[in-house]
Formats: sequence, structure tokens, C-alpha cells
Amino acid sequence: MRYKNFFIAGATGFVGRHLCQALKEKSCNLTVLVRTEEKAEKAISEGYRPHLGDITRKETLKGALKDIDVVVNLVGIIRETSGLTFHKAHVEGTYNLIELAKNEGVSLFFYQSALGADLKSPFKYSRTKAEAEELVRASGIPYIIFRPSLIIGKGDGFTKNILELINRFPLIPVPGKGDARFQPLSVDDWVRCFIRAMEEEGLVGKTLEFGGPEHLTYNEILEILMDALGKRKPIVHVPKSLVKAGLPLGRIASLVGISVPSISSEQIELLQVDNITRTDSIEKQFGFKPMSYKEAIKRALR
Ligand SMILES: NC(=O)c1ccc[n+]([C@@H]2O[C@H](COP(=O)([O-])OP(=O)(O)OC[C@H]3O[C@@H](n4cnc5c(N)ncnc54)[C@H](OP(=O)(O)O)[C@@H]3O)[C@@H](O)[C@H]2O)c1
Repeated sequence: MRYKNFFIAGATGFVGRHLCQALKEKSCNLTVLVRTEEKAEKAISEGYRPHLGDITRKETLKGALKDIDVVVNLVGIIRETSGLTFHKAHVEGTYNLIELAKNEGVSLFFYQSALGADLKSPFKYSRTKAEAEELVRASGIPYIIFRPSLIIGKGDGFTKNILELINRFPLIPVPGKGDARFQPLSVDDWVRCFIRAMEEEGLVGKTLEFGGPEHLTYNEILEILMDALGKRKPIVHVPKSLVKAGLPLGRIASLVGISVPSISSEQIELLQVDNITRTDSIEKQFGFKPMSYKEAIKRALR
């Protein structure tokens, strides 16, 4: 590894947990951003140095980047809440980290964007990811930006939501036709890409789009997942307008303690459009063959 001291924002999330474990195995020093005392204690027990703060509140980040070589920004939200908009989490948060990183003279800024990031995208998620990318590219700090497709592994939010439907409901409602294509990628392969990016100088200054080895429709993903689970439930296609109309019912249900997987109107729309790139993107850019979705989901369910 060319770098030793990492600061990881988003370390407590799905991708972050896998990344921290891998970097720990490589004997790196990790400072992790946490938002609660409880998470700080957990971080200490795992051998990391916690920094209590919030990416959207600059004053809470003071001192976080002392002696840091690489700033890793994995913070992202898939749904806005009343207190946290996409702009705040993605754009303002990244801006705050960049300003701090400039002062501390860090060697590298890593930003986790997403496949589909585009300033002209109809989706706020993708637009704000693209805006954050622009800030990183203009920062003057050496950078690497990843634009991965859907990431699958133990604890990933996408699989968790589907598992909840499969386990608790008699049928699987799919908003729309379910024929939009995705390119699922194992989190273990994402970590391999990250490590490769830290080792190879040639990837600095690049924005790298990548995904798994197959293009699969949402319907196909559900079929493979149910096969891996050994459970079958009928798939029912529901017009997306109907699903959207039902969103308030889901919120009411959760208020009275009935948990239903939550989804936003934008997520419903995101499920209707292809989110893919070349199937050899990892081989071409990182030099190895990624695993299939079938293998990735098998590992995730282990
Ligand atoms: N998972 C995928 O399939 C996928 C695909 C493409 C791109 N991405 C991107 O990859 C990144 C990681 O995804 P993920 O699946 O690991 O997400 P995740 O599990 O939801 O984790 C999000 C992380 O961001 C942190 N966070 C949120 N708001 C924050 C704030 N205001 N200040 C500090 N930390 C904050 C969370 O901290 P708490 O623990 O305190 O909530 C958590 O550590 C995201 O940027 C996402 O957009 C993910």
C-alpha cells in the first residue's frame, strides 16, 4: 500500500464496514467518522480511532484529518429526510471535507459517487453526486472517483429490503415492469478495486465507472435471489403510480409499528431505468474478473 493513514467518512455504513475490515487487515491506521457515542465505542473496540462529527457540520470535523494521507468519502443517502437533503449530504458534506483536506495537505481524496451521476440527470441523487464530483475534481487535491453500480454483500440495503419482502409478504410487489437492467457487483470486488486504486499511481485523477460482469433485469435479480434463498414467492407487477400513491400508507404503517420496506418516489423511478456500464469495466480498469451476481448473493447470505 502506498498510503498508511486513512480517514473514512461513511465507515459505519455497508460499504464502509467492509472497507475498514480490509484496510485493517493491511495494517492501515483508520480514523473513522461516527455520529454517535455508541458508534464511537464500537469503532474503538474494532481497533479504529473514532472522530465524532457530522459531515454536514464543518465545525464538528475540526482536527479529524491530522496526519491523514487519504480522505475517503463514502457518505451518501438514498432518500432525503426532513433534516438531510441530497444536496446537504452529498454536496455540502463533500465541500466541508475538501476544505479541511486542503488545509491539512492530504495526499489523496477518494470520492464514492455512483453509476449514473450526471449534472443533467432527472434524479436528485445522481445530480448531487455529479455536483460533488465536480468539487472534488476542482479541489486541486489528487483524487480518485468511483462510480460503481449496485453493490451487493452482507448488510447491503438493496438485498435487505427484498429479503424483508420475501420473508414477510405472500408476494413480491415490483413497481413497474421490472425490466430495467442493473449490473450488481460484489462488495468484495469493490474492495479489491479500492485496494488496487490505492496501489496504482495510474488511477489517480480518474473517474472510474464500473459494475459486475452481467446486465440483469430487476426481475432476473429477484429470481436469482429467491433461488439462492431456496424460497419462492410470486412476483406481482404493480403500476408505479399505484406504488407511489401507496407511499403514505407505508409511512402510516410504520408510525403504528408495522414495518414495511421504505422506498421513495425517486427510488421507484430509479428502478425503471437502466443503470449499467460495460460488463468488462473491472477487467479493463482494475485487471481482474469480478464475480457473478449469483456468487455475490451466495456470499451475502452466508
Ligand atoms: N450500496 C450501493 O449499492 C451503492 C452503489 C453505488 C454507490 N453507492 C454509494 O456508496 C456510498 C456508501 O453506500 P452504502 O451502501 O455503504 O451506504 P449506507 O450503508 O447507507 O452508509 C451510509 C454512511 O453514510 C453515513 N452518513 C450519512 N449521513 C451522514 C452525515 N451527515 N455525516 C456523517 N456520516 C453520514 C452513515 O452514517 P450512520 O451510520 O451514522 O448513519 C453511513 O456510515 C454512498 O455514497 C452511496 O451513495 C452505494
